[in-house]
Amino acid sequence: MPTVRFIDPEGTVTEVTGEPGQSLLEIAEAHDVKLGSACGGVCACSSCHVWIREGEDSLSEMSEAEEDRLDMAFDVRPNSRLGCQALLDERDVVVEITEESLEAWYNEHPDRRHERRPKAGSPG
Ligand code: FES
Repeated sequence: MPTVRFIDPEGTVTEVTGEPGQSLLEIAEAHDVKLGSACGGVCACSSCHVWIREGEDSLSEMSEAEEDRLDMAFDVRPNSRLGCQALLDERDVVVEITEESLEAWYNEHPDRRHERRPKAGSPG
């Protein structure tokens, strides 16, 4: 089974395995990885915005709907994807969670806000 390594802005690295056909969001949710999903994974927000560091070719192709929705995200890069729309294939991927997505996750989980740590590399 392919491995997915999630890296978040707080510096937390979580390495898990996923099933081909699962979305990055489904995999994150199954392993308590802090990836936002304000619309519930139906391509109607951009809170699941991630950057794919490695293994981009192992993910499903981007649809027009995903492309349009990504336009609403902050700091969109060539390796940007929506976690709810990018489906895993057979190979490993490394996924960087955006600050915007982590913040969205905390907004969805106010009871976990006490876990918030400063951004990795920032003072204090
Ligand atoms: Fe809303 Fe992915 S969770 S677009």
